[in-house]
Amino acid sequence: MSIISVAIQKGGSGKTTTTLNLAAALHQLGKNVLLFDADPQASLSQSLGITDEPENNLFTELSKEIKGESGNLENVVIETRSGLKLVPSSIELAGAELELVSVYGREQVFTWMLEKMADRYDYIFIDCPPAIGMLTVNALVASDHVLMPLQAEFLPMKGVRSFMHHFKAIKKLNRKLDVLGFVLTRYDERKVMNRQIFQELDKEFGEKVFHTHIRNNIQLAKAQEAGLDIFHFDKHSHGATDYLNLANEFLLKVENPTPSLV
Ligand SMILES: Nc1ncnc2c1ncn2[C@@H]1O[C@H](COP(=O)(O)OP(=O)(O)OP(=O)(O)O)[C@@H](O)[C@H]1O
Ligand SMILES: [Mg+2]
Repeated sequence: MSIISVAIQKGGSGKTTTTLNLAAALHQLGKNVLLFDADPQASLSQSLGITDEPENNLFTELSKEIKGESGNLENVVIETRSGLKLVPSSIELAGAELELVSVYGREQVFTWMLEKMADRYDYIFIDCPPAIGMLTVNALVASDHVLMPLQAEFLPMKGVRSFMHHFKAIKKLNRKLDVLGFVLTRYDERKVMNRQIFQELDKEFGEKVFHTHIRNNIQLAKAQEAGLDIFHFDKHSHGATDYLNLANEFLLKVENPTPSLV
């Protein structure tokens, strides 16, 4: 089993879209995948059609851990309309993030919770909120890999360098954590700026940059509105093609690890 955090502090960079559709593509390829919504905004849960917050969710189990009891994530896993398994989020996670600060082993609570799920899944994907707070730190400490989606429209290097600074610090708490790669989203090959951003990333991070780019594709946004992954919404779209290619490149990368960045 591998745990992958999808994280970058910049908002709207395609974290949730990538978590959802990469996991869905791996599910199509026969992998046993679990989605873990660690964002109090609950966009991942909503994008999978969970509009009413389930009574049992990540918050209910995390609260038990904060009180010194034992939570059980398996009790809150739901199967979505797409057939994907999900640990749903809750708006109350925002409050739990503040409470976590005063807990012993505060950075490791997700690790304890996920340890109990070991070997039930091939891959667990954690959708992180757009900040490096206690929830993202917990996700990274519990993970084997971090995958960073970057919107090709903006110069992402400043955000990437700032993230790498946190990554180095978190690596002290979790030696096995590695950068799996950077993925460019909302990519438009016709735009010079988009091509330049890829070249810049490639120059600095080489084999850590995914060669698959996720093109700008309105069907991806519409699928989320409909509460479905792209394969159940429009399997002939560019979005479906790109996420399937990304899944194949993802499998090559996890099976053939490249040297660690730090
Ligand atoms: N390749 C794409 N083509 C078109 N629209 C996209 C694409 N990727 C993402 N979007 C849309 O862009 C918006 C932001 O994407 P997403 O929610 O995945 O970003 P995020 O990084 O998770 O945001 P946040 O930081 O708020 O959690 C969403 O409305 C999504 O549907
Ligand atoms: Mg998101």
